[in-house]
Amino acid sequence: MKSFLKKMVLGTLSLATVCAALAADPATPETRAQRDARMAWFREARFGMFVHWGLYSGLAGTWEGKPVGTKGGMEWIQQRVKADTDTYAKRAIPLFKPTADFARQWASLAKAAGCRYVVFTTKHHDGFALHDSKVSDYDAGSVLNRDLVREIVTALRAEGLRVGFYHSVIDWHHDQYEYARSKQLPHPLKGQPYPNGTRTHAKYLDYLHAEVQELVSNYGPLDVLWWDYSAQDFQGDEAWRAFDLMKLVRTHQPGVLMNNRLFRNVEAGWTGMGTDSTIPQLDPKYGDILTPEQHIPATGMPGVDWETCMTLNTTWGYSEHDHAWKSDETLIRNLVDIASKGGNYLLNIGPKGDGTVPEESIKSMQAIGAWMKINGTAIYGTTASPFAKLTWGRCTRRTTPAGTTLFLHVFDAPADGKLVVPGLKSPVTKACLLADGKPLTTATAGRDTVISLPTLGASPVTVVAVELKGDLVIE
Ligand code: GLC
Repeated sequence: MKSFLKKMVLGTLSLATVCAALAADPATPETRAQRDARMAWFREARFGMFVHWGLYSGLAGTWEGKPVGTKGGMEWIQQRVKADTDTYAKRAIPLFKPTADFARQWASLAKAAGCRYVVFTTKHHDGFALHDSKVSDYDAGSVLNRDLVREIVTALRAEGLRVGFYHSVIDWHHDQYEYARSKQLPHPLKGQPYPNGTRTHAKYLDYLHAEVQELVSNYGPLDVLWWDYSAQDFQGDEAWRAFDLMKLVRTHQPGVLMNNRLFRNVEAGWTGMGTDSTIPQLDPKYGDILTPEQHIPATGMPGVDWETCMTLNTTWGYSEHDHAWKSDETLIRNLVDIASKGGNYLLNIGPKGDGTVPEESIKSMQAIGAWMKINGTAIYGTTASPFAKLTWGRCTRRTTPAGTTLFLHVFDAPADGKLVVPGLKSPVTKACLLADGKPLTTATAGRDTVISLPTLGASPVTVVAVELKGDLVIE
């Protein structure tokens, strides 16, 4: 604020510049309207692609020729086999061989799937950074002479996608990271003394902040910073100098959205260490988005912005042993379910060590894209269902000054073809199948509106658009 006043006194700035400086000053509390403007694209987007990719990807869930299980996060392989960082790096680096155009493949896949944004791992818990870092020699710049972050950002921007950095504050490589300070956070050497004698966590934090400074300064405008993660016994300022870190990010990226994972306290929406231990509350000083993981909150998270992240099989990082792929029907219904509860779906791909995307993942993302091409208008920019429960499926809505459209997402068509919309009192001006625009007959029956459906095709979710006159009234 002080520097802002100085600029005002100098009187040389245009109004637009002054406004930008005011919004950018992290010490100035944001108004509700400013916050809504910052969150607007995220609320409109509803669907993003998550990418877990790093040294672990080349190992592909295999260590010393044996599968490290067939389920669960293989980006944790270093921790699962309890390897020190040198042993891990020696095995993993030769297997991490990105093709020249892997990033363009990701970007066109995300676009084809109908995603509006992509969040990818700039550094996972193993500590290997994908950018060209001046503060580390455990990074793509030093090891491959490439800046993979730049390659990815350039490819995503070229497709018009919003860009998010996942960044792990946990670090299994850095020799000053005091892993003994938390009983709850994972580390491959947990329980063992530090191999290099005494550690000074503050030195690790200087490094972490310097690395983040590079990421927020050198790659143009950034849309999301997706932190990962904290424990009840080690979080926030003590663990990461979190408020300074957030301020650093906001100073360089005033429009950025951040998740809540620099913290693990109730004020930031956490009730425990479980991935589903989130409650719908978030004081903005702890972040902008709640992050339920691998689960969809039963009744959404009213009053807060949230995003469920999920895997296509059971692992985030690539494993050649995990074949538990979710069906297209499950994935599309998850997307609809989340949108009907007012949240975003961040769906993960785990590319291989060369950056190419597993065939099964390509097929799934394309299947979602084919559905979104026809039905995207029932997802993008919609808000949560006004109905408590619908026996046949879900509902999303769009309200504009011109009126409300309800999108009825039919999972299970009623056997008699009569779709009952319980308690809907607003007069229907038009009802049609979104896929072909053919009008459908509607009638009122007691307190309900009943829509007559034709025989439906094989789509996992058929959408009926219902335009209403006047205000939405549901009894
Ligand atoms: C977890 C895991 C991690 C994964 C992430 C995705 O916190 O540690 O491997 O990146 O969640 O939400």
